Amino acid sequence: MTNGQHLLITGASSGIGRVAAQRLERAGHRLTLICRSQERAREALDWVAPQTTVLLADLADLASVDQLCSTIQSRAEPLDGLVLNAGLQYAGCKQPRWTPQGFELTVAVNHLAHQLLLMRLLPMLLQSTSPRLVITASEVHNPASGGGRVGRPASLGDLSGLNSTTPAPMLDGNSRFDADKAYKDSKLCNMLMGLHTANLHPELPVISWSPGLVIPRASGGFFRESRRANPLGQALFGFVARDLLRITESVDNAGERLVQLVLEHGDCGFRYWSNTLVKPGLHRFEQTEPSAEASDSLKAARLWTLSQERIESVLNS
Ligand SMILES: NC(=O)c1ccc[n+]([C@@H]2O[C@H](COP(=O)([O-])OP(=O)(O)OC[C@H]3O[C@@H](n4cnc5c(N)ncnc54)[C@H](OP(=O)(O)O)[C@@H]3O)[C@@H](O)[C@H]2O)c1
Repeated sequence: MTNGQHLLITGASSGIGRVAAQRLERAGHRLTLICRSQERAREALDWVAPQTTVLLADLADLASVDQLCSTIQSRAEPLDGLVLNAGLQYAGCKQPRWTPQGFELTVAVNHLAHQLLLMRLLPMLLQSTSPRLVITASEVHNPASGGGRVGRPASLGDLSGLNSTTPAPMLDGNSRFDADKAYKDSKLCNMLMGLHTANLHPELPVISWSPGLVIPRASGGFFRESRRANPLGQALFGFVARDLLRITESVDNAGERLVQLVLEHGDCGFRYWSNTLVKPGLHRFEQTEPSAEASDSLKAARLWTLSQERIESVLNS
C-alpha cells in the first residue's frame, strides 16, 4: 500500500488497534478512528496525530453505527482501507448482555456492527485503486486450534438464533448462554463475513487474522470484563500464561502484525493469517487454513443474508 492512504479503523482506542494506529500514522497514512464515547474520543485525541479524524459510534448500538456510516459518506473522503478490529468478550459472566436493539452484546459488537459498516461503506472502499479489508478474528474460531479446543467449540449450527425476530442468546439457537462460546462464534462470524465479502468482490484483498493470546499487564484491555467476574482466577491465568508458560504475544508485536497486513498484503481474494504459538516465547505469523466451518461459502452467504435481514429490520422499525 502506497503512502497517504485513508484507513478507517475500529477498536483503535486500546490494545492491538491503538498500537497499529500509531504506527500507521507514523507511516504517513490518514486515519479515521471510531471511538465508543466522548470520553474515549477525548483520550484518543491526546495521542493521535493532527491529521487523524476521531468519530464517535458505540458499536453495540446499530443506530449509532448507521449514523456513523451516514457521517462518513457525507464527508465523501475516498476510503482505501477498512480495518475491522474492535472486539470484546465477557467470558466468565453467566448472564447474556443485550444491546439496545435486543442482540446479545458479543455478536452485536464483534459481528453485526462490522457487517453494517461493510454493507454501507464497501461501495466507497471498492472505488479505491488499492483497497484493503482487514478483519481481526481469532484462532478460537477453529475448534482444532489451541485456544479453540478449550471450552465449548465455535459452531453456528443452522444459525437459527439469527433466523428469528425474538433475540436468542446464542447464534446456534441454543438457549443455554455461554459467554466464551458466544465470543468464539462471533470470531467465526468474522471469518465467514470476510469469506463472503471476498466471494462477492474477487477484486478485493480481504484478510482475516488471529493475533494470538494477548494479555497486557495493564488493568484495561481485552480481559477487563473477565477480570471483573473473576479477579483472582484471571490474575493467575495472566501470570501463568504470560510469565510462566510464555504462551502470550505482546500488544506491540500483535499491533505490528496488523500493520504488516494492512500495508503489505494486497493480493486479491480471501486469506487467513495466524500468529501461531510455535514454542514458549515464539510465535510464527503465517498464512493458515481456516476451520472447515469458516471455509463454508454457503454458510457465509446465509450468515450475511440473515444478519442483513436482522440489521435492516431493527433499523427500519
Ligand atoms: N487479546 C487477545 O488475546 C485477542 C486474541 C484474539 C483476538 N483478539 C481480537 O483482537 C481485537 C482487539 O483486541 P485487543 O486485545 O486489542 O482488546 P482491547 O484492548 O480491549 O481493544 C478492543 C477495542 O474494541 C473497542 N470496542 C469494544 N466495544 C466497543 C463498542 N461497543 N464500541 C466501540 N468500540 C468498542 C474498544 O474500545 P474501548 O477502548 O472504548 O473499550 C477497544 O478499542 C478484538 O477483535 C479481539 O477479539 C484479541
